Amino acid sequence: MNIQETINKATITLKNNDIKTPYLDSELLLLKVLHKDRKYLLLNSKETLSKEHLFQFNNLICRRKKGEPVAYLINYKEFWKEKFFVNKDVLIPRPDTEVLIEEVLTIYNNDKKLNILDIGTGSGCLLLSILKERKKFLGIGVDISKKALNVARFNAKLQHLDNRVKFYNSDIDKFFIGKYDVILSNPPYIKNFDLKYLDKDIAAYEPKVALEGGYDGLSKITKVINKASYLIKKNGKLILEMGCDQKNEIVKKLKNKKFYINKIIKDYGKNDRCIISTKI
Ligand SMILES: C[S@@+](CC[C@H](N)C(=O)[O-])C[C@H]1O[C@@H](n2cnc3c(N)ncnc32)[C@H](O)[C@@H]1O
Repeated sequence: MNIQETINKATITLKNNDIKTPYLDSELLLLKVLHKDRKYLLLNSKETLSKEHLFQFNNLICRRKKGEPVAYLINYKEFWKEKFFVNKDVLIPRPDTEVLIEEVLTIYNNDKKLNILDIGTGSGCLLLSILKERKKFLGIGVDISKKALNVARFNAKLQHLDNRVKFYNSDIDKFFIGKYDVILSNPPYIKNFDLKYLDKDIAAYEPKVALEGGYDGLSKITKVINKASYLIKKNGKLILEMGCDQKNEIVKKLKNKKFYINKIIKDYGKNDRCIISTKI
């Protein structure tokens, strides 16, 4: 079978299994097997695939049709301006999270020496993207998951940022190091009850520790706000991602800890997604 026929056949298989982007997924999985880029597929669509490549590809399609996310199968996800290595130990970076980066870059539009803390850094996608854009920033990433931090460290090395970032394995409750100009966090904020209603790609494959926000979805965000209030410098900015129905509760918690609310930003789907506040 040639390249085009193979992609077409896999697309039908994925479509029949309710995969939302069957053609794109098939292409990405074939690229992984062939170690080539998209241009190669387009220019060589009539090329016959070897038995070995076909076997590897069919194996990936089989995993994809059961719901395993493409990012875990190809071991990367594009986020902001880079490809991040990902595996099942980290949340797959989401485009909506890029809103936080846009905000940091708008607020700090010239390169000063600032200390920035990312709570629940996961793959490191947020922190590393910002460090790449602002060459004088120094970053600290904290995560409760040792395995996630291995991924973050690997990404820092790949992106030549390991000299400006340190990672700590800690529950945020037990983290007391440093004072920061900027604190960022995309904490787990899904209500435990709602976890089972997530798409099967997410519920069955992404790490629970990256999703579970306790019975009301707010338990981790509350920890982050409480600890940020201690770790942040006066006039420092706290930039949080949140669930689209959590704004009012979070505003209350921030005000209780003497944060002034600067603004609330919507994501690409027009849901409240990010809240910016300043420690007063
Ligand atoms: C929603 S993921 C965000 C990952 C990454 N920052 C991103 O935006 O893609 C939340 C992260 O918080 C970490 N985490 C969960 N509970 C934590 C805690 N108590 N202290 C520190 N990190 C925690 C998880 O391991 C996970 O990596």
